[in-house]
Amino acid sequence: MKLIAYNVRDDEIPFLTKWGLEHGVDVDYDTETLTIDTLSKAEGFDGISGLQTIPYDADLFAAMKDMGIKFLALRNVGLDNVDLNAAKKNGISVTNVPAYSPASIAEFAVTLALNVNRKVGYMYQQLHDKGEFHFSADFMGRLMRNLTVGVVGTGRIGREAISMFAGLGAKVIAYDKFPMSDSELPFNYVDSMDELVEQADVVDLHMPGLPENDHLFNDDTFKRMKNSAVLINTARGSIVDTKALINALKTGEIAGAGIDTLENETAELQDSRSTAKVTDEDVLELSKLPNVILTPHSAFHTDEAVANMIGLSLGNLEKMVNGEAVDNLAK
Ligand code: NAD
Ligand code: COI
Repeated sequence: MKLIAYNVRDDEIPFLTKWGLEHGVDVDYDTETLTIDTLSKAEGFDGISGLQTIPYDADLFAAMKDMGIKFLALRNVGLDNVDLNAAKKNGISVTNVPAYSPASIAEFAVTLALNVNRKVGYMYQQLHDKGEFHFSADFMGRLMRNLTVGVVGTGRIGREAISMFAGLGAKVIAYDKFPMSDSELPFNYVDSMDELVEQADVVDLHMPGLPENDHLFNDDTFKRMKNSAVLINTARGSIVDTKALINALKTGEIAGAGIDTLENETAELQDSRSTAKVTDEDVLELSKLPNVILTPHSAFHTDEAVANMIGLSLGNLEKMVNGEAVDNLAK
């Protein structure tokens, strides 16, 4: 069996090599993103492992079919960028890894919330832009234990975030379209998103980037939020209207944001060897704001997550190539 992984970073290589040796499987890798232009590298392989936020589109699946490749195993959670209808039409089975380490993403959301609330961006800006290293009245922060955190989406990652914020003493409220019927976690559901955004000091997003969630956070939502509130988005960029967010941050509609996922992510974002300078206007604009912590879709990136992303994704490919059933087949 021969498998190939695309978009591989240097930190993944030891895990890929170890998995291949342990399973007696020939695993090759490439640092490039999987597109119709790079697909030829998979010629002669039985299955592909992918990790990207740019689309896996209909043309790609048609080309995979022409090459006789039937299996694509994502190393990540989100399926929002996969044309699953096209995959099905071309006879390609797609799997994801729904839970490689939900705590990794949740802990990063907490990290962003703490950094924004404790004004770390203001301290960095003063030091790096002005070369000054002293106290400022702008640096006064707020204690998490005095705040209400509103978690949107109480799935795998949202539940971890609830535990962590509650552990810091915050009062946690949550909203989910499909609430859990029973949970021992320390939080209360509210009945609507409006209620959540009006009450929360920290709004923390953990829902999927489905079309119906597009721009759920827009001018109107930011007006409903407290002026002192902060938004944390480690979920998907499409959920937030970026222009409206920038406006809300600049006009004081909201007080700050921790943003790991942005609209219009490019292949370059996940190219760990890229040396290209930022040209995206939204990224440039957000990076100038001291009340924003902006990170390149890195909430997942821990040793625990990387080991599981590779082990579970390649395990799915191995099973599919051998004709065995897999748990994580996307439909
Ligand atoms: P999950 O499927 O376990 O949970 C998602 C929850 O959101 C579900 O309970 C669902 O009912 C709820 N939901 C859907 N639409 C909603 C809405 N409009 N309002 C309220 N609730 C809604 O998903 P998960 O594993 O917890 O992942 C959450 C998000 O995190 C996804 O967008 C995923 O792609 C993203 N993610 C980001 C990173 C990263 O590195 N930044 C890593 C992994 C996952
Ligand atoms: C996911 O697992 O869905 C992520 O957002 C992580 C990213 C590396 C694609």
